[in-house]
Amino acid sequence: MHDDIAKVLIDAETIQAKVRELGERLSRDYAGLNPVLICILKGAVIFAADLVRQLSIPAKLDFMAISSYGSGMRTSGVVRILKDLDRSIEGEHVIIVEDIVDSGLTLSYLLENLKSRQPASLKTCVLLDKPAQRQVPLEPDYVGFDIPDEFVVGYGLDYAENYRHLPYIGVLKPHVYEGVSQ
Ligand code: IMP
Repeated sequence: MHDDIAKVLIDAETIQAKVRELGERLSRDYAGLNPVLICILKGAVIFAADLVRQLSIPAKLDFMAISSYGSGMRTSGVVRILKDLDRSIEGEHVIIVEDIVDSGLTLSYLLENLKSRQPASLKTCVLLDKPAQRQVPLEPDYVGFDIPDEFVVGYGLDYAENYRHLPYIGVLKPHVYEGVSQ
């Protein structure tokens, strides 16, 4: 285990089994629809890369990069698009693939933004849900795991751009972020 990790919350095998299950559900629900999966950079990149390989149906993949957190641990609610989609999603069946929902501000902003582009349908698939911190009413359509209100890293999730490479989801030791304004 990495020295800065206090405990592993979800191990690599459990994540992979869940991603397989989500891939199977999406393949059933989107059969014949050729959906567009929109990976929200950077946090969802590892989840999305594993998820698309568990699909047994044709699908497209596009990317959006947004900024919400910076290096602190709480979202400001201000979302800025750093990289937009390459193609129009008008008339497409769209699935937003996100790493985690916390306050819900990021995902609700994205839903509003993408809805205005007139997709045929729009759903959300998130690996982790922290329902305790919700500031806006939002229920993701596909959820990997509900987790407690702890700051987690790994499997794409970062703290100050570190720890994304870890194959598991872990909780940081407090000394790593102590003294940093949140
Ligand atoms: P929300 O807008 O508060 O729902 O936050 C969503 C975004 O905040 C996610 O896409 C993550 O980038 C980040 N985030 C929220 N909680 C965590 C966490 O525990 N670890 C790492 N990033 C997080």
